[in-house]
Amino acid sequence: MNRSIRVHLAPALIDPQDLAGRTVLVIDLLRATTTISYALAAGAKEVVPYVKVEEVRRAAEEARQCGEAVICGGERGGCRIEGFNLGNSPREYTPEVVAGRRVLFTTTNGTRALDHARRSDRILVACLANLSAIEKVVIDAAAIDILCAGGAGSVIREDVVAAGAFVARLARAGSTVLNDSALVALDSWRAASRGLAFENPQLTSTLAASLAEGEHGRHVISLGYEDDLALCAAVDSLDVAGEFDPRGRSVTALRGRVR
Ligand code: MLT
Repeated sequence: MNRSIRVHLAPALIDPQDLAGRTVLVIDLLRATTTISYALAAGAKEVVPYVKVEEVRRAAEEARQCGEAVICGGERGGCRIEGFNLGNSPREYTPEVVAGRRVLFTTTNGTRALDHARRSDRILVACLANLSAIEKVVIDAAAIDILCAGGAGSVIREDVVAAGAFVARLARAGSTVLNDSALVALDSWRAASRGLAFENPQLTSTLAASLAEGEHGRHVISLGYEDDLALCAAVDSLDVAGEFDPRGRSVTALRGRVR
């Protein structure tokens, strides 16, 4: 099968209109798309992404008036937002807390990137933890776009590394045409993974060490969330792929639960 894969290193580098009709994988490795995937794997009914904090507060109030106990989650500056139930650490999204419930969720860059992709045909919430689960969903897609969430209009290294992991996996079946950013992402993946195979047990610790070198990784560590790096670096630790339906405004699990 001939396949084209385009990587966009930050939302500012691709017009939302140019994603219309495409299959898009949105990646915010540290930590929004990893956290959404954990919430779904833990049995959250759906995750509803919002760009603004106020939108979450409003939606939560409406839900409460209807007698629904929703969970409000997300961050600003990496920290839990005042009045919210949870922050943006994947560890917080356990079955005890989120199973069967709607999670209203906002983060600085991740939920904004999901919104940026809203004109796409299919939007998948991608991270290293669900690499194989996402791969299975897009196995027959001839054209795939990978949108890195980035940060404040700039490129964020770990999103590019994760995009490169997807390129490495998706490009191996048959002939694939890559844009230059996909080639950059592939180089980043090879450097961060030190050429280790996906199955290598050393891969998680190698990637976590690499994530710790980046600006955002250092910020996450400074907030006391160092353990999140290994979680975000663990390839295929989840068997769940989240799909965002911008018309229904929610992300739901296509398959599976935590292994
Ligand atoms: C974001 O959306 O900017 C990130 O997920 C921030 C974070 O790591 O909490």
